[in-house]
Amino acid sequence: MEITKVGVVGFGLMGSGIAQVCAQAGFDTLVREVDQSFIDKGFARVDSSLARVVKAGRATEDQAKAARGRMRGTTSLADFNDRDLVIEAVIEVIGAKKQVFGELDAVCGPETIFCSNTSSLTIVEMAATTKRPDRFAGLHFFNPAPVMPLVEVVQAITTSDATVATLHAFVTKLGKTPAVCKDTPGFIVNRLLVPYLLGAIRALEQGVATVEDIDNAVKLGLRHPMGPFELIDYTGLDINLHVANILFEEFRDPSVAPPALLKRMVLAGRLGAKAGRGFYEYDEKGQKKPSTPTK
Ligand code: CAA
Repeated sequence: MEITKVGVVGFGLMGSGIAQVCAQAGFDTLVREVDQSFIDKGFARVDSSLARVVKAGRATEDQAKAARGRMRGTTSLADFNDRDLVIEAVIEVIGAKKQVFGELDAVCGPETIFCSNTSSLTIVEMAATTKRPDRFAGLHFFNPAPVMPLVEVVQAITTSDATVATLHAFVTKLGKTPAVCKDTPGFIVNRLLVPYLLGAIRALEQGVATVEDIDNAVKLGLRHPMGPFELIDYTGLDINLHVANILFEEFRDPSVAPPALLKRMVLAGRLGAKAGRGFYEYDEKGQKKPSTPTK
């Protein structure tokens, strides 16, 4: 099956990055948000990201303009009736996702493939609520989506091999590298990443080293672009706690049990860069301040 028209539900941080990547690769891209103000915010994010792409010399101004021209916003899922592929990127709450797919199932043709960008929820739980469990898969992008080259293609027990092949080809057309994996908690990346990030928090709790020294050790000793605390602040402490809770519920493995400090920082509202404070402090532009305030 050939995909030409893509729909993205949710125009937040991940949805806007995914939609931008699709439009840059030449796909007609329709995005849906519940309110026009969220659509405007999403397009502001796309515009600033496209400007970075142009500044970095990875696209010309004309190419960026053409990509932007391939994107449209709507507040109605009914407009998704001509889409070949729909990627859902709404809040990580199973009820909200099921509701979106229920509405889409009634609107889209039987050939339309549905994907969720969930990082931790079970794909088959969403697929089973639709009339197309064979044409339903996970398509997991990484933050920032316009930059990160990997997309996990998640095959649920109901997903057909033909759907996986179509999505594999689609991801390749996006200029990304697909990694096919089973519908298990955390897929590939979060299954490996979460125990590592939680281990860094436990090392901090146990007084092994400071936030800065742990981050520097990982950046300089392993050549990671970010240390664990920079990465947790970047993706959000609340998101990391949510994913850890889901992995722990499934595996009951102490390596994915959320540390007390993470829970308490989320309760205190220290959610990371987006909140101005996580393991580090941030200015109003989201830039890290030099000092390390964590106690
Ligand atoms: N849009 C477009 N371009 C962007 C961008 C954006 N939002 N963010 C960064 N870039 C580009 C910059 O323009 C720059 O391009 P050039 O190198 O071509 O000039 C390049 O990316 C590097 O950016 P910066 O120089 O501003 O900053 P940096 O070198 O510190 O890189 C980073 C920033 C790409 C975020 C890098 O620190 C990084 O790769 N960090 C790790 C990110 C990561 O691990 N993400 C996965 C998180 S886990 C996840 O997402 C899964 C989940 O389920 C939670």
